[in-house]
Amino acid sequence: MLKGKHIVLGISGGIAAYKTATLLRLLVKAGAEVQVVMTPNAKEFITPVTMSALSGKPVVSEFFTANTGEWHSHVDLGLWADAMIIAPATASTIAKMANGVADNMLITTYLSAKAPVFVAPAMDLDMMRHPSTVRNLELLRSYGNHIIEPAEGELASHLVGKGRMEEPENIAKVLDSFFDCQQSLKGKKVLITAGPTYEKIDPVRFIGNYSSGKMGYAIADCAAARGADVTLVSGPVSIKPQHPSVNVISVESAKEMLQACLSHFAESDIAVMTAAVADYAPAEVLDRKIKREKDSLGTINLVKNPDIAATLGAEKRPGQLLVGFALETDHEFENAVDKLRRKNLDMIVLNSLRVPGAGFRTDTNQISICYPDGNRTDFPLKSKTEVAGDIIDAITCLCEKA
Ligand code: CTP
Repeated sequence: MLKGKHIVLGISGGIAAYKTATLLRLLVKAGAEVQVVMTPNAKEFITPVTMSALSGKPVVSEFFTANTGEWHSHVDLGLWADAMIIAPATASTIAKMANGVADNMLITTYLSAKAPVFVAPAMDLDMMRHPSTVRNLELLRSYGNHIIEPAEGELASHLVGKGRMEEPENIAKVLDSFFDCQQSLKGKKVLITAGPTYEKIDPVRFIGNYSSGKMGYAIADCAAARGADVTLVSGPVSIKPQHPSVNVISVESAKEMLQACLSHFAESDIAVMTAAVADYAPAEVLDRKIKREKDSLGTINLVKNPDIAATLGAEKRPGQLLVGFALETDHEFENAVDKLRRKNLDMIVLNSLRVPGAGFRTDTNQISICYPDGNRTDFPLKSKTEVAGDIIDAITCLCEKA
């Protein structure tokens, strides 16, 4: 799947740079077109002549060629790339990437890249576990970069621990399988609900919840990146999808969300219900603002909202997949599986409110995916972008089995 792909290979100044010649050779052999970008320090570890001979292209390292004044456009390179891989990524390069310190060609290209970015750290074990490196890698993950974890073993310092750059063969495999599954949802129509619903009380007040929509938007972006035709029915949120092809339908209340879903469900292959739908709505919506002194309204009468997931579950045709979410505080698995069965779902994603960093208004999430047969897969705490990837992988597996 690497054939014909445009890859920017960024090399920063660490001893593992010598392994990057092998990585470059593997990528070129697999049919990729590779443009090497080196930091000034990387040239101390491996020569640009080696890399340009192997890639068949002059290495880019400076913003312009000194004697001719020719400008090397990091913006063009960032747009040209189907993927960027930074290997080795030193502690310093990782810190610059995390904080946008654009003082060399590699970082400016990274900041301009529209394509997915892979980062293969390599450094000594103490640098690797320093809180600043840990935090910078977390930041890179939260931006949606893919971190190719370094292996454990003997390091250049002769110390033994985590910090060895992953072997070139494995890095090439990661890239290959990334492109392989990139089009895994091509031709599929995916309907996603996201965000909260607002249930009006009067013209200025509503019943709502803290949902930010981040999880649903990340799933929409991921499904679109894998080739799906995505319709995102969204409650009021302050974010936008990153992927240009996602079709957003903005709604406010649960009833509006249900109507939008019903108009798109029949043509959908997959529906993912991430919205935090208000369970109840005021029985009566006042057309004027309730006044504190004049109105002696002590209570708001509520009526049950429609259950969107259950309504779609009842309408589901063979071959359609319906995925739900559950946010639980107690008896998590029992409650999640009960919901899955009641709503006729094919899979339910459980996030526990007990886990710090999971749930509403965070950039991270920790999930378990539960299936109707009682099987389940538990995942560690990850960025919502990575979690979206895990959920889409699981959906793709179900599609293949269906
Ligand atoms: N859901 C929905 N419509 C509703 C309520 C929930 O589509 N009116 C969907 C959610 O998007 C989610 C799943 O159903 O995918 C479970 O949501 P949750 O609020 O946990 O379920 P409830 O049935 O409301 O159960 P609870 O009693 O725990 O609130």
